[in-house]
Formats: sequence, C-alpha cells, structure tokens
Amino acid sequence: MELVGTDTDQFHPEPNRIDDESLRVTTSRGCVPQRVRIHGSSARAAPRSRKALFWGRHMIRASELSDWFTRKPHAVHNIEAIEFRGERRHTEIIDFIGGPNWYTDSFGVQWRKYRYTQIDRYNGTTFSHGHLNAMTFDEPQVFNGQTVLEIGSGAGRYTDHLVDRAAQVISVDPSAIGINVALGAPNLIPVRGDLFDLPVRREMIDVVFCRGVVQHTGNTRRAIKRLFDYVKPGGTVLFDVYSLKWFTPFYAKYWIRPLTRRISTQSFIPFAEKWVPRLLRIKRRYVMPLLPNNKLGAKIAAQIVPIADFTSNTVLTPELRIEWSVLDTVDMYTPRYDRPMSWNGVMKTLRCVGAREIRGDYGLFCFKATAPS
Ligand SMILES: C[S@@+](CC[C@H](N)C(=O)[O-])C[C@H]1O[C@@H](n2cnc3c(N)ncnc32)[C@H](O)[C@@H]1O
Repeated sequence: MELVGTDTDQFHPEPNRIDDESLRVTTSRGCVPQRVRIHGSSARAAPRSRKALFWGRHMIRASELSDWFTRKPHAVHNIEAIEFRGERRHTEIIDFIGGPNWYTDSFGVQWRKYRYTQIDRYNGTTFSHGHLNAMTFDEPQVFNGQTVLEIGSGAGRYTDHLVDRAAQVISVDPSAIGINVALGAPNLIPVRGDLFDLPVRREMIDVVFCRGVVQHTGNTRRAIKRLFDYVKPGGTVLFDVYSLKWFTPFYAKYWIRPLTRRISTQSFIPFAEKWVPRLLRIKRRYVMPLLPNNKLGAKIAAQIVPIADFTSNTVLTPELRIEWSVLDTVDMYTPRYDRPMSWNGVMKTLRCVGAREIRGDYGLFCFKATAPS
C-alpha cells in the first residue's frame, strides 16, 4: 500500500498541552526516574478551521491528538477507502518516524507478502485468538474497555481481536502499520513509530501489549524496560521474548543467520518458497524415520533441517501448513536482530523497573507484570 504523506502543519496541538512541557517519566537508563524535557512544536496556535481532521468516519480535533501524544508527528498518511470487515473506510496513519527505517524493512516486505496468512478471520482458525488469551494468562478481560498500546503489530493478527475488546487501541509498527488488517476500525489509532521513541501519554495507557518484537530490536533488555515507560502507574504490561537457554547458541539457526540476515527479504522469500516445501518433504521421508518418534526426535530433526515446520498441524489446511512454514522460516532468517534472553535476565529486568505481580510462562516465554505505582 502506498502511503501518501501530509504536511503535519495541520497538527498544532494546544500550546498549553505540549509546548515546553516537562513530564515525569521513568527512563530505561538504570531505572532512575528523571525529569525529562519534551520538546514540542512551536507555540503558534492553529486557526480553528485547520484544527479539525477526519478520523475514520469521525472528525477529530488536533487537540484530541494531543490527548494521546506528547509531540506532533512527522507526517499523517491518508488512507482512502480501506476495507474493514466489508465496509469501506477512511483512516490516517500517524507517522512519528518520517523517513525510511532500514532495520525493520525486512518485516514490511514479509508482512506485505503474507498479510492474511496468520489472521484468524481469513484463515478460519482461532490460533491468534488463543495465543492472545494465553499471553494474558487466561485473563483476556484485561483488555476489556481499556486503552491498549500494541507495539510491533505486524499484519495485525492480534490488533484484529484487540479492537473488538478494548475501548481504544493504539497500534504501532515501523514497517507494517500500513497493511494492518484492522485499519479502519473506529477505535484504532494506527501509528508508525519505534518502540524506543514513542511519544504517547503514558497516563492514557492501561495495557501495553508487545508480542514477537523485543528480540528483534537492537537491545532486548532496554526494549523490555521501555515498555514500562508507556503505561500508567499500576497498568499492565504483556510481552514475550525468544528464550535463551544453555543450548540456544547451538541452534542451527544461529549459525546460519550471520549469512542470511545479509540477504534481502525480497530475495529470500522466493528462495524459501522454493526450498521450504522440498526440505519439509526430505525431513518427513528421510530424516524423521531415523529418529525416535518423540519430542527429542522432533527437536533433533528440527536442527538437522532447520526450518519452521507446521506440517503436523492438523487444524491448518495443507496449503496453509506450507505457507506458515515459509513465513516463519523467513521470520527466522531475515530479521537483522535476533537476541533472545534468559529467564533470569527477564526477571532481573522486571525487578529493575520495579514491576509487581510478575507472572511468566516458561513454555511460551511470555510475561505479565504490573507497572510500579
Ligand atoms: C515478528 S513480527 C511480530 C508481529 C506481530 N506482533 C505478530 O506477532 O504477528 C515483529 C514486528 O516488530 C516490528 N518491530 C521491529 N522493531 C521494532 C521497533 N523498534 N519498534 C516497534 N516495532 C518493531 C516489526 O516491524 C515487525 O512487524
């Protein structure tokens, strides 16, 4: 989808709300609360007529934008006639990045190609719904009627459920927000932004949800800490991370990645589409029969043929099993960063930010914690 930029001069947040404002925030540096000065836009007030913008089907005043954000965006991208659940809508993407963002570009290519693959509404499964619930530790009501900040939304497999449960969803992605399948939902504010630099008003956010993202940033520990900067005191943070166990460095993927992460996603996708189905057949026919038919055998096979494998998933159609395997193989090998974290490392980080009521699932390696009051 082509994004057309709009001059953000139309955003003149109320001068008394943003300009020269000092906020109290907890920075991720050493967990020391600091006074941080937020440099806003110039103090000139916008003429009344220019302060109204289209927002979905409604008009939103720029002053309402300043209810959510502490600085004006680089651009606003108008998306005309987006299709949302059979209806044509109009929406805007609030862009806090502006130019290209090279390190997440690989995801943009991946999600454009496989936009609908993992979306429950399109693939007829409840995988994403089930996984979302699991990440709440079976307390999905945590989203009900709340303001949810989703960071790293990808193609929107969770956004599509969040907009049904939450009162307001702010979904952020640097590379794929323009293809989020929930674009056009009346309670969705789509944002192009970076986890490390989100000018959201934390006091407005009840829940931060971040799935499949922190290990793909340059600094996993800092990314986890940063999540707590975006939620109100006593709010909930839900996230997961790739697990680092003693044997993780021996995974074949980490030996192959130094080569593949230099290959562009555009070039890798056709390669994966050709070879993943072949390798899956080789694995089934020749590798697995030589190994014990148990969990250990499956793990060894996954290292001998180190690609994602959904072929034993009976819920997916045979075509989708291959498509998911290709998508996840692309996801394994092309992101620039893949930095897993140990259980103790995550716990130490959560204690460092003063998180309370910490829960963790060792299998999914997902975590739920309450931000300090
Ligand atoms: C593996 S995908 C996960 C997408 C989605 N959460 C899901 O589970 O399907 C990782 C996503 O994180 C986004 N991402 C990577 N670095 C980011 C950053 N610094 N800030 C925000 N999002 C980021 C990528 O653009 C990508 O869409």
